[in-house]
Amino acid sequence: MLDLQKIRKLFPGIYDEVPLDNGKKIIGINFDNAATTPPFIYGIRSIEKFASWYSSVHRGAGYKSKICSDFYEDARDRILKFFNAPKDKYEVIFTKNTTEGLNLLSHLLVNEENKVLSTFMEHHANDLPWRGKCHLEYVNINKDDGTLDILDLEDKLKRNEIKYLTVSGASNVTGCVNDINKLAKLCHKYGTKIIVDGAQLVPHKKVNMLGNGSGEEVDFLVFSAHKMYAPFGIGVVIGLKEELKNKEPFIKGGGTIKIVTENKVYWDESPARDEGGTPNVFGVVALLTSMQLLDNIGMDNIHNEEVKITNYILNGMKGLPIDIYGPLTTDNRLGIITFNVDGMGHSEVANSLCSDFGISVRNGCFCAHPYVEKLLGISEEDMEYYIKNYDKVEKPGMVRISLGVYNTLEEAKRFLYALRYIIRKG
Ligand code: ALA
Repeated sequence: MLDLQKIRKLFPGIYDEVPLDNGKKIIGINFDNAATTPPFIYGIRSIEKFASWYSSVHRGAGYKSKICSDFYEDARDRILKFFNAPKDKYEVIFTKNTTEGLNLLSHLLVNEENKVLSTFMEHHANDLPWRGKCHLEYVNINKDDGTLDILDLEDKLKRNEIKYLTVSGASNVTGCVNDINKLAKLCHKYGTKIIVDGAQLVPHKKVNMLGNGSGEEVDFLVFSAHKMYAPFGIGVVIGLKEELKNKEPFIKGGGTIKIVTENKVYWDESPARDEGGTPNVFGVVALLTSMQLLDNIGMDNIHNEEVKITNYILNGMKGLPIDIYGPLTTDNRLGIITFNVDGMGHSEVANSLCSDFGISVRNGCFCAHPYVEKLLGISEEDMEYYIKNYDKVEKPGMVRISLGVYNTLEEAKRFLYALRYIIRKG
């Protein structure tokens, strides 16, 4: 069992008071971890410590520059180890975040002739970068619980020569977890490679890129540090070396070339050719500290604790006049619970949680419009109404709570109390 009181001390601001509408103050609850997570205090300290060595990466002949460059390169190996991804097979490319990582992959890997499958479960970051770049099709979701329709996936893999399946490891809307190693095996059976948007999954559940071998290997994994308790915006793409070789760089500039003449450019190898501009070494420092701390706490412990609190909340919501989206069990879901209260708008509920109870949540469509529209049963035609009345009516949406490693059962109790109160008042 996790010692949550100890874990809470690893974060700044957990016991800060926030103002309520009634003029009082209360210790805030952050249930918006799917959007971004607070940083580990040790992550900030590791940056302070590293600051005396801070210098340019790969651009200076000075001693400190060498230290920074070595640190930056060694970080790639430590990241590969965390995900059980062998160095001879996989490359690590640093980006700004998951969105940039997926844009990078869509640029490097596909052209108009390639067939790619995305899914109706995706965040916009794993949908929009692929639009217009390839033949794009979407795997359906099961309408009742928002899970991926595996039969539809296999049907599409079977029928078409799909180059890539690009899919969330876990949904930022429903918290549905996809078994990425099983999906990899299914894809490989049909000669398709798999790209996993790991933004939500990586901070909450252990990811083993190799799985149990025999076809279960994930080919590409993309994630962001700001969702795993590290500040200073950095993201990571881990991908097959073979597939990333000799591709036209996405962001061109310093650091990407071997030689440039007036008329010719000789690009460097990947990952250098895919990391234009001075690298964000502080971001890498904080990310490695986060990974170390998550490892110390234990990814399985983190997941089990989050499942316990999620179960508690789901049980507490039973019988209330609300719709919960996504599976109602914790078998294959993260600590994300998305809902609507009958007869109340999502903004009204979210604002009351904040201003009457000091509980931070997110509401709306969570940058995953097609998924939310499908879960709410709103058609493409219905959406025209909202586009025409964009500034006049509340757009469809939901209220989302999302847990982090430091959230407690007491906070869950306070949330359920607040929700019951809002429902009674509403
Ligand atoms: N993808 C993030 C969220 O769901 C921003 O809130």
